[in-house]
Amino acid sequence: MTVDSVLNNAKVYLKQDIVECSLAIEEGKIFKIGKEVNMPKADEKLDLHNLLVLPGLIDAHVHLRDEAKAYKETFLTGTAAAAAGGFTTVLDMPNNTPVTMSAEALQNRTRLARRSILVNVGFYSEFPSKLAEVKDIVALGAVGFKLFMAEQVGGLVIDDDEALKEAFRKLADLAVPVAVHAEDHNCLKKNVEKFRLNKQDKIRDFLKAHNEEVEYMAVKRLLDINLQVHNKLHFCHLSTKKALHAVAEAKHLNQKVTCEVTPHHLLLTKDSYEELGVKALTVPPLRSKENMEALWEGIKENTVDTVGSDHAPHTLEEKESNSIWEVKAGVPGLETTLPLMLTLVHKKQLSLDKVVQLLAERPAGIFGLKDRGVMEQGKNADLVVIDFNKCFNIEAAKFHSKAKFSPFNGWEVKGKPVKTFVNGQLVMDEQEIVAKPGCGHVVRRVQI
Ligand code: DOR
Ligand code: ZN
Ligand code: ZN
Repeated sequence: MTVDSVLNNAKVYLKQDIVECSLAIEEGKIFKIGKEVNMPKADEKLDLHNLLVLPGLIDAHVHLRDEAKAYKETFLTGTAAAAAGGFTTVLDMPNNTPVTMSAEALQNRTRLARRSILVNVGFYSEFPSKLAEVKDIVALGAVGFKLFMAEQVGGLVIDDDEALKEAFRKLADLAVPVAVHAEDHNCLKKNVEKFRLNKQDKIRDFLKAHNEEVEYMAVKRLLDINLQVHNKLHFCHLSTKKALHAVAEAKHLNQKVTCEVTPHHLLLTKDSYEELGVKALTVPPLRSKENMEALWEGIKENTVDTVGSDHAPHTLEEKESNSIWEVKAGVPGLETTLPLMLTLVHKKQLSLDKVVQLLAERPAGIFGLKDRGVMEQGKNADLVVIDFNKCFNIEAAKFHSKAKFSPFNGWEVKGKPVKTFVNGQLVMDEQEIVAKPGCGHVVRRVQI
């Protein structure tokens, strides 16, 4: 038989080992992993010159925008950024215009995405106003529901414990996870109103408004509610020691809870604002060194399940408003996450196993992405080829994302994604997009 392609002279990450071998790809799947002499005939052969091959990364926290927010990012530019960053699957957040919170909105978004995505994309939905619609949204393949606790975005009344319980119960039956942005909106609103009234509008005021307690209160409240309903809760971008400890405790008590941290909370502290200014503003904001260290502890102890970039593109004008309360929070992260993580591998702060676990295996498991996130015969041929020893400086001006800024701009990093294969197809080669828009697949949650 003749397969579509064979990749020779690769160092392939296989079950926590790095093995010098070849990979045969047929119809988008890994057909065979083995010695070059044992490879089948192929239409195309590629010599990888001993570069490292990891399973394609999965970013479970991406804001692809498009539709009415296409001026910030589109499916095409966002997934180009993903491919350039070594991500073969991204999960899209629902705070769009219109908000993804109905079967109809999800269908429209899916239809639009199919035309232009370069990597695989899965969709979150916000909760619909009518809970009965949850099952239709799940039937359309939503990977999870997002619960934004910082303000009312979706159709679920976030003040109402009973409503939350009912919604969670519904999802628990369907075994679909809820991804949470954990900030207590009552507390937050009170803080913001007070500062606005007093004309306090500096970064330090923003940090006080979005303080540690605001995160902890939302985490604790949801964990308590969930005690009775046993839903799958996934806390996004945890940033504080206290909230992380609450999650660790819930895990010990066998609650079905998982959590994510971001590269910016792992690598920067609030002191970084002095140099970076409002452009580095995110929600939750950067924290103290003590909190940052707690996140690292959480990674070591497996309290942290995933690293998500929280790729949140905005225009420069939106980042440069005079008042802190008007600045759009969020930074792009798809094109910096992998090089930053690989640099930490070189510095022995992370193992390569951990990188694969946090950025491929665990996100695939939590969100039911079948046959992705692992390198094995029969799985999807989603691969990232890495020049592990390549040093370069992060240059935000060259991003594929529309958001050409980064808190990591200028950082020297070591380890560069040089090829990305999505479903067996070469999509990114030496940072250039070489595939046609629409080659990515829309992925659905599958029960595993
Ligand atoms: O920094 C953030 N940006 N945090 C969020 O929760 C939302 C996101 C966005 O959509 O811009
Ligand atoms: Zn968030
Ligand atoms: Zn986000």
